[in-house]
Parts: sequence; C-alpha cells; structure tokens
Amino acid sequence: MTGSSLRIEVPGREPGGYEVHIEPGVFSDLARLTRLAASAHRYAIISDSRVAPLYGERARSALEAEGVEAQLFTFPAGEWNKTRQEWARLSDEMLAEGFGRDSMVVAVGGGVTGDLAGFVAATYMRGIPYVQVPTSLLAMLDSCVGGKTGLDTLEAKNPIGAFHQPSLVLIDPNLLDTLPRFQLTSGLAEAVKAAAIADDGLFEWLESHATRLLEREPDVLTELVRRSVAIKAEVVERDPEESGRREILNFGHTVGHSLEALAGYGVLHGEAVACGMRIEAGIGEILGVTDEGTSERLAALLEACELDRPVEEEFTAERLLEAAQADKKVRGSVLRCVLLDRIGRVAQGAGGGWAHELPPDGALDVLRAALRSPTRGADSG
Ligand SMILES: NC(=O)c1ccc[n+]([C@@H]2O[C@H](COP(=O)([O-])OP(=O)(O)OC[C@H]3O[C@@H](n4cnc5c(N)ncnc54)[C@H](O)[C@@H]3O)[C@@H](O)[C@H]2O)c1
Ligand SMILES: [Zn+2]
Repeated sequence: MTGSSLRIEVPGREPGGYEVHIEPGVFSDLARLTRLAASAHRYAIISDSRVAPLYGERARSALEAEGVEAQLFTFPAGEWNKTRQEWARLSDEMLAEGFGRDSMVVAVGGGVTGDLAGFVAATYMRGIPYVQVPTSLLAMLDSCVGGKTGLDTLEAKNPIGAFHQPSLVLIDPNLLDTLPRFQLTSGLAEAVKAAAIADDGLFEWLESHATRLLEREPDVLTELVRRSVAIKAEVVERDPEESGRREILNFGHTVGHSLEALAGYGVLHGEAVACGMRIEAGIGEILGVTDEGTSERLAALLEACELDRPVEEEFTAERLLEAAQADKKVRGSVLRCVLLDRIGRVAQGAGGGWAHELPPDGALDVLRAALRSPTRGADSG
C-alpha cells in the first residue's frame, strides 16, 4: 500500500474541507503543499523540544528554501506543558516577532503540539490558518484530523479549547522511525478503538498485522494510518462539533480518562484507553448490550500490541467511579459510556443517543463486576 490523499469536508465552512495527504516521504513536499493549501506571508512553525531538532528545523529550512519567511517556536515536550502558560508564551513570542493576520501556523509534532499549536492558531488575531504535520502515531491516526484544539488545566484534560479546522494535514509515516516504542504502542490503542467502533475488517487486519506494525514495516504503518484516518474522517465529517455521533470516538475513554486522572502522568493515554476499552467492553457484556467474548477478543489484540499493562488493578471501582464523576463525560451523577454492540459496531443508547447511561447505584456494581472480568486473569467469582 502506498500513499493516498483524502479530503475531509467540514459542513458549513467555506470553501469547505481540507486535504489529508498520507504518504511515506511527503514531509519533503511540505513547503509546496502548504503554500497550495492557504496563502500566507509568514510561517510560525510550532514544535516541542524533542521534535524541533528532528523535524521542526527541517520544516523551517524547507519553507525558507521556497522563499518564504519561516520561524521556529518551541515549547518543552510533555503533556504537562499543554497549558495556558505555554499558549501565552508562544502567542506573545509571535506578537513580539510581528506576526500578523497573514501568518500561518505549522504544527510539527505529536498530539500535544497539534492541540497547543492549533489553539494558538485558533485564537491568534481571532484565528489564523494552520497545518497539521503529526509526528507521533497517535497524532497521525487520531488527533490531527477533526479540528479539536485546546489545553489542559491543573484539574482536567482539555477543558479549554476551540474547534478550529486545519487547512491541510500532512502525514509522513516515515517520521515514526524516531518515535520511542512505548509511544508507538500507545498510539496503536486509538487504532484498535477506531476498528472496534466502526470497522471489523480493520480489527481482523490488526489481529494479523500486530507484529509487523511493532516492527514498523513502512507499508503496514501507512495502511494502518490510512484506514484509521478514514474512520475518524467519516465520523467527524458527519458531526464536526460533537453534537451527536462523534461521541462514539469516546469508546474506552470514560474509564480511560478516570484511570489517567487517578494515575496522573504515570500512565500513557493509550495504555489508559486500552484498559478502558477492555473494561467498557466488559460493562457492555454484563449489561447484555455487547456480544459475549468481545472483551476477551479486545484483550487479546491489545496484548499483541503490547498494551496489556493492567493499570486498573491499582484502583478500586469506587475510586474509578468517583474519578469518572469528576470528568466532563458525566452528566448529573450517571456514568456515560459508549458501548459496543459487537466488534466493529457501536450499540445505540436509549433514546437513540450514542452513549449509555448507568445510574449511580447500579454503576458501581457493574464496574466492580467488570473489574473482576476473566480477561484480567482474576477470579470471576
Ligand atoms: N485533538 C484531538 O482530537 C485529540 C485526540 C486524541 C488525543 N489528543 C491529545 O493528544 C495528546 C497526546 O498526543 P501524543 O501521544 O502524540 O503526545 P505528545 O505530543 O506529547 O508526543 C509524545 C512524545 O513523543 C515525542 N515525539 C513525537 N513524535 C516523535 C517522533 N517522530 N520522534 C521522536 N519523538 C517524537 C514528543 O516529543 C513527546 O515527547 C494529548 O494531549 C491528547 O489530549 C487530541
Ligand atoms: Zn484518545
């Protein structure tokens, strides 16, 4: 499988939509494609301290070679820097350098860079265009499309943000060569999620390609990114601002976010989401919504992807529920989860919505039972 390009149409926007190029080596065409996508006189490349020396600098010299003014702005790598402080500092630096409305942001990095740089672009002079150049697997197959930008606070992840669609997305799977292995596996969790909610064919493909993915075979990685992005694109195209079906992308994330809140930065997003998917599939099975055996099949694939760290073992059902209730996905005091019907399909909730609401008393029992599920190797008693 070689490269491909797909176009995402965002309803209600003029001229409507943006191009997503997925191709090994496409990074070397950054300057030409960026200039085609939107006209700007100056380019602010935003990158974190790890990615800047690897690719940020290359992006800058490529743009300058095309005869445009490009400057590299960096922030310290790490989720804990996706803050208002870094947003303010980057924006202030751009202001000090005289960047005007005719500027464009080029986000070169993982999901943290995309969210932070995207939010800088969304708010700078009431919004300037930006290009996403994702460099982590998570960013390539998930966060670079959809237009969600934002920041964390001390209390929560992503409570501050804006929808701001990119003008262009450039995905070069070759950039994954330098990504640490644990970051690669963490990103795989979102691919498993995409397959679980929308594409049983992709799920089967993952089951037979996990080893080759971990070996970073370029063609296999490219196909993975292409198929995962296609799923995300289809979902966000129909629901760009998350008023309906886009909620299915939260599968595994209710429990996943609780685990992240409890474990702090000691757990990677993908690891937390992997546990969240196993547990939420278990919840679905207990409620009779999800086909039996689904959580077992998920657990086996996640293990093949080296995503089998049982983060939840450190926490009780009570603490998980408490953390979920502090999270934004809880309306009132019920627990809201996206549940599968079976691999490849989400079960609609009562009233035709995409999430299922578990009442507070029942939620605790169900969560307890799901935590004891046999896929975790514990006694299911
Ligand atoms: N906007 C969305 O729709 C959306 C969706 C999912 C996740 N997210 C956000 O994405 C973030 C997580 O993204 P992430 O996992 O990419 O984190 P990240 O951006 O922190 O990247 C992980 C680490 O890998 C490094 N790195 C990235 N690419 C590299 C490369 N090619 N070579 C070497 N090192 C590289 C980074 O410097 C960083 O240290 C979270 O903040 C999450 O909220 C956003
Ligand atoms: Zn996620």
